[in-house]
Amino acid sequence: MQADIYTFPGYHKQGSDIAQQLGLSASEIKVHHFPDKESLVTLTDKNLADKKPNHVILFLSLDYPNNKLIELYLSCKTLRKQGTQRISLVAPYLSYMRQDKSFNPGEVISQQVIGQYLSDLVDDIITVDPHLHRVQSLEEVFPETNAIALSATTLLGEFVKSLNKTVHLIGPDEESLQWVKNVAHISHSPYSVAKKERLSDTHVEVQLPDIDYKDQHIILIDDVISSGHTLAQAATQLYGEGVKQVDAIATHALFSSNALELLNSAKIKNVWTSNSITHATNQVSLDKLLARQIKALL
Ligand code: R5P
Repeated sequence: MQADIYTFPGYHKQGSDIAQQLGLSASEIKVHHFPDKESLVTLTDKNLADKKPNHVILFLSLDYPNNKLIELYLSCKTLRKQGTQRISLVAPYLSYMRQDKSFNPGEVISQQVIGQYLSDLVDDIITVDPHLHRVQSLEEVFPETNAIALSATTLLGEFVKSLNKTVHLIGPDEESLQWVKNVAHISHSPYSVAKKERLSDTHVEVQLPDIDYKDQHIILIDDVISSGHTLAQAATQLYGEGVKQVDAIATHALFSSNALELLNSAKIKNVWTSNSITHATNQVSLDKLLARQIKALL
């Protein structure tokens, strides 16, 4: 079956590099936003208009997702109408995973709703380190879809190892244990996990594990950096305990508004992320990992 990669805005360079590794062609989906933010989606340029591949691999991360979810819907419905038999979504960052239960009366369980929405549109979903909490596996979120969760932690671990420093790894909350453990295993570093209570979007309280911090070099490990408050709070406390340096590494660079400034003001010396979301802090490429998994679908 002939397969092509279709990239959404912001992901053409990465999608084309992956396509090249796999000997596929990549074309860019164009999106125009009208003044009221309605989206105009153009699937192919003139040269590709008659090509109509049987298998389309859509490539985009679903950070800041609301417009993108509509643009995906418009694209998938049109592709199906044109006769595309198989649609695979490669979304290194998958949004709407955090709300996996109703915490208060009336709250929508977005994970289930968006899970069904995407399941109805595509045949395969490939993502990286999805934020699953009470739900154990991606198959539960996308029951009728071939859903594959990759992990960036081996690559993050190799990056930490390449620094050639004696470091102690800390995950800022109990959920981070799954990621910290593997990074520690690959980089041969000791690790611990803190406790966190989130009081609001921008207010978290972190309780550090009880170890000797004097003159330690700490690397904080998390799946997502969003507002930056979790890591900033952890770093501030670590310096209070006498550590000599705090760095941070995460899979997904979500970085809302002033997150990086917040991390800088908490004296986090280096912030490194994978390129699951394009950002200035990207240091760890997921391209080969994603290419291998796409190849397995072909
Ligand atoms: C939450 O449990 C995640 O693992 C991250 O710790 C969280 O998303 C980070 O958010 P923020 O940067 O807004 O504190």
